Amino acid sequence: MSPQYDRTRRALLSALASLTVVKMAFPASASANTDNSLKTERTLVIYLSRSGNTRVIAGVIHRSLHSDLFDIEPAIPYPDDYFQTVEQAKIERERDRDLRSPLKSSVSNIERYQTIYLGFPVWGTTLPPVVQTFLTTHNLADKTLIPFITHGGYGVGNSEALLARLATHARQEQPLVIECDQERRTTETVTRWLSTISR
Ligand SMILES: Cc1cc2nc3c(=O)[nH]c(=O)nc-3n(C[C@H](O)[C@H](O)[C@H](O)COP(=O)(O)O)c2cc1C
Repeated sequence: MSPQYDRTRRALLSALASLTVVKMAFPASASANTDNSLKTERTLVIYLSRSGNTRVIAGVIHRSLHSDLFDIEPAIPYPDDYFQTVEQAKIERERDRDLRSPLKSSVSNIERYQTIYLGFPVWGTTLPPVVQTFLTTHNLADKTLIPFITHGGYGVGNSEALLARLATHARQEQPLVIECDQERRTTETVTRWLSTISR
């Protein structure tokens, strides 16, 4: 081995060694980032919203916690008309739970989330049928479930009790309960106003 070859080899090894140090310095900070992102990835905000009240709250939680977000949607959308939706929800409630409101899509990797925020509006003094479908088709065992509930002035009805029954193996936290605008009231006010306008 020539002295020249030896010098080059030493220089190369020393350069590689310093590269290794730099490389090791990065994973320390990168792993902190990765840990953070893993932590936030484990939180999922799920919600159903028809007229937007629950969606606003879901958005605030999602942005504050940098969580993932899932919008519960029925396979067949509810009617645009409020009163038709009330009727349909009533019919669905009376159906066998297994035949109710299939979902448009499911959360395929629910097992990777540890904490789930679940938001829904009270419908007919209870959990909307499509939220019931969500709960019976996803395994929330051992997850922390934090509900946020909106209603139009009549309270949560039996939605909390039913939620506890359907997500029996989840650790349920105290819900956030907020009274919000009612689509019914807005619809009736606008309809009355329209009828006063001479055409
Ligand atoms: C089909 C239907 C049924 C409802 N039933 C109730 C009820 O039983 N009690 C109540 O306080 N509000 C009821 N509401 C009002 C909603 O719970 C309330 O306006 C809620 O904030 C709507 O949330 P969203 O804007 O996210 O859809 C009902 C609304 C709909 C569309």
